[in-house]
Amino acid sequence: MQVLSEKYTEEEILKKLRKKLDEHRYIHSIGVAHTAVSLMMAHGHAMASEDKGLREINMAYTAGLLHDCAKCLEEDERDRLCKKYDVELTQMEKDHPFLIHAKLGAVLAKEKYGVTDFQILSAIRYHTTGQPNMTLLEAIIFSADFIEPNRKMLDCLPAIRTEIYRDLPKAVYMILKQTLVHLEHRGQPVDENSLKAIEFYKKFA
Ligand SMILES: [Fe+2]
Ligand SMILES: [Fe+2]
Repeated sequence: MQVLSEKYTEEEILKKLRKKLDEHRYIHSIGVAHTAVSLMMAHGHAMASEDKGLREINMAYTAGLLHDCAKCLEEDERDRLCKKYDVELTQMEKDHPFLIHAKLGAVLAKEKYGVTDFQILSAIRYHTTGQPNMTLLEAIIFSADFIEPNRKMLDCLPAIRTEIYRDLPKAVYMILKQTLVHLEHRGQPVDENSLKAIEFYKKFA
């Protein structure tokens, strides 16, 4: 596998991430990257075309490694970087700043890690909320984030982990629904992208 960066080797990317993430988040990121690779092998073009298949696998690995690259920033640093790179925040993101790491992460993957592939950046951008009609890579990063091996066990997890290799859109729906129930249970509002996503994916339930 290869990290698709214009500037850095895989070793350099891992070193940078280790510096920027706490240990828990670093281990999670490695877990997401490997889970994303396995999902891409199951659902991508690996069987049909060696070149295209390998490219996709490398995209999944890169997006997985970097999806949370903005997750462990101090508040000040996060706000400074949002300003520096003109990251426009929705009211929802301002009210629930943990959401910002997805949008800012896509910007930092480009600016600080040398990733220029639009599809990888978009998968990082939507990994927390999802969105309707996701690309294969977006759906894989969104789901890998939820099912990777280091995640705390939830009742729904074994069924989702089984389903995800058979029917990815159905598993995406299961994850969205689980997230929605969880947020509603905690009395927290749901991001508009997630609401639109669940509306789109319910036909796969
Ligand atoms: Fe995240
Ligand atoms: Fe994550």
